Amino acid sequence: MPNHFIEPHKGKLLVLTPGMGAVATTFMAGVISARKNLSKPFGSLTQLQTIRLGARSNQRNPLIKDFIDLAGLDDIVFGGWDVISDNAYEAAKRADVLKPQDLEPLKDELGSVQPMKAAFNQKYVKLLKGENIKPLTNKWELAEALREDIRNKISETGASRAVMIWCGSTEVHLHPSACHQSIEAFEKGLKNSDEAIAPSQLYAYAAIKEGVPYANGAPNLSADFPALEQLAEQEKVPIAGKDFKTGQTLMKTILAPGFKTRMLGIRGWFSTNILGNRDGEVLDDPDSFKSKEVSKTGVLDSILQPDEYPDLYKDLYHKVRINYYPPRGDAKEGWDNIDIFGWMGYDMQIKVDFLCRDSILAAPIVLDLALFLDFAKRAGKSGIQEWLSFYFKSPQVNTGHIPEHDIFIQHLRLKNSLRVLGGEEPITHLSENF
Ligand SMILES: NC(=O)c1ccc[n+]([C@@H]2O[C@H](COP(=O)([O-])OP(=O)(O)OC[C@H]3O[C@@H](n4cnc5c(N)ncnc54)[C@H](O)[C@@H]3O)[C@@H](O)[C@H]2O)c1
Repeated sequence: MPNHFIEPHKGKLLVLTPGMGAVATTFMAGVISARKNLSKPFGSLTQLQTIRLGARSNQRNPLIKDFIDLAGLDDIVFGGWDVISDNAYEAAKRADVLKPQDLEPLKDELGSVQPMKAAFNQKYVKLLKGENIKPLTNKWELAEALREDIRNKISETGASRAVMIWCGSTEVHLHPSACHQSIEAFEKGLKNSDEAIAPSQLYAYAAIKEGVPYANGAPNLSADFPALEQLAEQEKVPIAGKDFKTGQTLMKTILAPGFKTRMLGIRGWFSTNILGNRDGEVLDDPDSFKSKEVSKTGVLDSILQPDEYPDLYKDLYHKVRINYYPPRGDAKEGWDNIDIFGWMGYDMQIKVDFLCRDSILAAPIVLDLALFLDFAKRAGKSGIQEWLSFYFKSPQVNTGHIPEHDIFIQHLRLKNSLRVLGGEEPITHLSENF
């Protein structure tokens, strides 16, 4: 395979997060902690996973980070925006994901990350209030102000380039409207402060205009509509989304392909969660929950293909609930009751009780997306990066493409994309005699 030209990484990489809450600060803390050798970056493919090259017998299994030219943890600098003015140390303390003994050694570095004033409007996140907000109201001016923030932060931190990962609250569910259909319509919409344009779209627009790759970690409409997809192609910027695949959906996309592989039927899949962090509070608003529900429920249909396998999956009853329950904080509990059936239609049940930590699962995704998107940009890739579907509950795909939710297929695609970009053959797992 020919080697793709990849601009070597040089200088600092600024990772910008709109939203400096539980996920963003846990990500920052983990990177700093790993740099100090206080912990290992578990959960991160870019840091820990190997990649097989060629036949198994060749035994070429370098670490991904040794195979392709990724920025290192030492190259990363942080920046962010939040409607609350706490610095990253204070915000991490308040998020209560990490123990004080793990946060204290990181206090100076985290404390130096001060949130920039947010582009925010409560109409789009009803259960959130804050004071660290840009006083502007016109959306075009807000987008311009965000662009200026990006430029300033790059020069202030001495970074050579940046990536942006939306770690802000889930906004209300919006459908793409007329202003989302072309770049011109969107820019006109910005100037007219069109109601259909939510703040996360302002950040996405600002990032793409500044040549900064953008990923959306939340389920709301942000860069997944024609105007910004076209803009990303035009500006040669990679984008990806949406909604980090953690917790219950991670479990679903691990389990469901297994049932389907064995041709086991499913009558029902009931999923309920209790969580008490701010994300849970925001999701208590039905409009924000709607965004989440849409992104969570599509997963099973796509993996199980009920149209292809009507006897097995056509009548599957899928229900998802999120309950805000403050005593739990970030330590979420997700129950799944799965009613499956097998030979001669006999029923079986599986119960999964996942005592997970959402932000602990999400933080390495932020790191991997930041490093892979920066790599993609240097490799000359632009627009939607479908090979990063692995990280998302609702993978963003090009028009006409069908999103893939099966985590094992997503993983194969991710690694084969890396192999090809690194000048190696993709792996089919076939040998000469099958
Ligand atoms: N934790 C997970 O496993 C997980 C998984 C999938 C998706 N997500 C999504 O990631 C996002 C972050 O999750 P979290 O647990 O860190 O939530 P959080 O509530 O702790 O943090 C979100 C932060 O975003 C800020 N914010 C909201 N609107 C903003 C704006 N316009 N500009 C700047 N800041 C803004 C809030 O003030 C808050 O501090 C949420 O949308 C969540 O749904 C999280």
